[in-house]
Amino acid sequence: MAASEKPSPAGASSGNPASPLHVAIVMDGNGRWAQKRGLPRTLGHRAGVEALKRTVEAAPKLNIRWLTVFGFSTENWNRPAAEVAELMALPRRYFESDIERLDREGVRVKVIGRREGLSAELLRMIDDAQARTETNDKFHLNIAFNYGGQADIVEAARRFAEDVATGRRSPGDLDEQMLGSMLATSGSPPPDLIVRPSGEQRLSNFLLWEAAYAELVFQDVLWPDYGAEHLEAALKAFAGRDRRYGAIATDNVLATG
Ligand code: FPP
Repeated sequence: MAASEKPSPAGASSGNPASPLHVAIVMDGNGRWAQKRGLPRTLGHRAGVEALKRTVEAAPKLNIRWLTVFGFSTENWNRPAAEVAELMALPRRYFESDIERLDREGVRVKVIGRREGLSAELLRMIDDAQARTETNDKFHLNIAFNYGGQADIVEAARRFAEDVATGRRSPGDLDEQMLGSMLATSGSPPPDLIVRPSGEQRLSNFLLWEAAYAELVFQDVLWPDYGAEHLEAALKAFAGRDRRYGAIATDNVLATG
């Protein structure tokens, strides 16, 4: 299904959702996982890559078509240099071991976020992974890397302002659809479900615009321990939600009379 075929929140039918098409995950808890074992935090991040592999394998089996994961935020540069270096090495670690299989299985890989600050080698690896899987559409894996929701909105607004300044667009052209189409996530439907493991309950600058009508599920497991059973539990919680998109349930319309 193309992203444009997904009902927009305004036109969506409300009610009990079956299963989410697009799941987004804040992969949190690597540091605590390592500390609990007396290991350096870097090993927690490496274990996090293994959890990502398990989740990518489990998601399509659960009828998920889009998975967006938060791998490195624009604020993560504030961590110690050695940890940043380890985090920068994670996409390479992942692509080296998995890109061939991902491609074979029809997974389209996209990396969203700022390119500035990433090394030439990492950018080449990202570009290769994206180009190689460009025509796949069985499953979509978006990796948010050097990504910040606020930065992405600012970037889109700036590009729109530039278009106005050069006469390509006028201020009246700006609406929710236009801005949404200028974000890094354009081409993906909005996430139906955002999951955050590790017990923290916040979005931390992840998909701020796109989260408008997402259901949020927080789980008490650290990311490196995450697996198919945790994803299934998140889907079960999602299935119990009543998605109304700001409207009211149809059986309440008469009562409003
Ligand atoms: C947050 O946990 C996690 C990160 C900053 C990195 C997440 C990255 C991965 C799980 C692997 C990503 C793989 C690719 C391919 C990009 P934390 O370190 O803040 O944990 P803490 O809250 O317990 O300290």
